[in-house]
Amino acid sequence: MQVAGIGRVGAPVEVIETGEPRPLAGDEVLLEVMAAGVGNWDEFVRVGGWDVGGAPPMALGVEAAGTVAAVGGAVSDWTPGDAVMTHPVPLRGQGTWAPMLIAPAALLARKPPSVSWEAAAAFPIPALTAEQALSDALRVRAGEYLLVHGAGGVTGGLLVSLATLRGAQIIATAGPSSRQRVSALGARHVIDYHDRDWPEHVRAVTDGHGAAAAASAAPGGAASAIRAVADGGRLATITSDPPAEQRGITVSNVYVRPDGRQLGDLATRLGDGRLEIRVAASYRLTEAARALARVTGGHAGGAVVLVP
Ligand SMILES: NC(=O)c1ccc[n+]([C@@H]2O[C@H](COP(=O)([O-])OP(=O)(O)OC[C@H]3O[C@@H](n4cnc5c(N)ncnc54)[C@H](OP(=O)(O)O)[C@@H]3O)[C@@H](O)[C@H]2O)c1
Repeated sequence: MQVAGIGRVGAPVEVIETGEPRPLAGDEVLLEVMAAGVGNWDEFVRVGGWDVGGAPPMALGVEAAGTVAAVGGAVSDWTPGDAVMTHPVPLRGQGTWAPMLIAPAALLARKPPSVSWEAAAAFPIPALTAEQALSDALRVRAGEYLLVHGAGGVTGGLLVSLATLRGAQIIATAGPSSRQRVSALGARHVIDYHDRDWPEHVRAVTDGHGAAAAASAAPGGAASAIRAVADGGRLATITSDPPAEQRGITVSNVYVRPDGRQLGDLATRLGDGRLEIRVAASYRLTEAARALARVTGGHAGGAVVLVP
């Protein structure tokens, strides 16, 4: 099977030959991959900064959407032909940038018929991360001010949408080209992060107090975001840059946790239009290195996927 991946840790992404998928364990399914997500987190995997549970030579990729082709002996929830999405980490050997994928059945979620394969493939990691930041780390409550720093990105946009559904009052940072979209997702105030004093603007909007909670999805942005948080508030960063605790603010460093059931709930909301994900570009597996370069560039303009 020809996949897009690495021959060794740190090697450039290329098309490599792996064997055909092995026989399934009882709790596994075999998926025919219709599309696979590409994020800058795949670069961390490539260089050995995130252990997702495979060893090179291997396909990269930690999210996908596809059709169930076969199920293991202990699987009763899924049958061949089901349309699903997944964040299948730890990997069962190979990543998702491949025509076929072995995944644990417990980490699948149904793909709503109204959602494209590309959108479904790009959804699991940003959606799970956003939900876990808001519900587990920040415990965002209706009515309180929430800052979303980096709302112009894919995960940032889902943070805004999910927090809007929870009834929070959202103050977002975004660049000029994302401003309108972030407002449409539910942010009450959108502040341009290019203005170095943007945390002071957040304070002004909140009568000088600062936001009760903040989620930072901007690489290296948490140190600025904490300046906009009220004394005794909460800050969650998803970009591995937690600042030292100060002024009684609780700081959380959030890493995505695979969860099939939670992904299913999120997928339902994607299917009925309460959530959205914008796919900016779709590449063939043979163009995986280009796709990865696009997301590591930091301004992909939306989600990027590979189509086998
Ligand atoms: N911890 C985890 O488990 C986890 C999970 C998912 C993602 N992440 C991380 O979260 C970050 C966002 O991921 P993503 O895929 O959602 O990103 P993305 O879609 O590639 O986000 C790109 C957007 O971020 C905005 N941005 C860039 N620099 C910024 C800055 N200094 N301040 C504010 N906004 C800025 C820009 O929006 P404008 O258009 O507004 O300029 C840019 O278009 C990445 O670093 C990723 O690795 C972590």
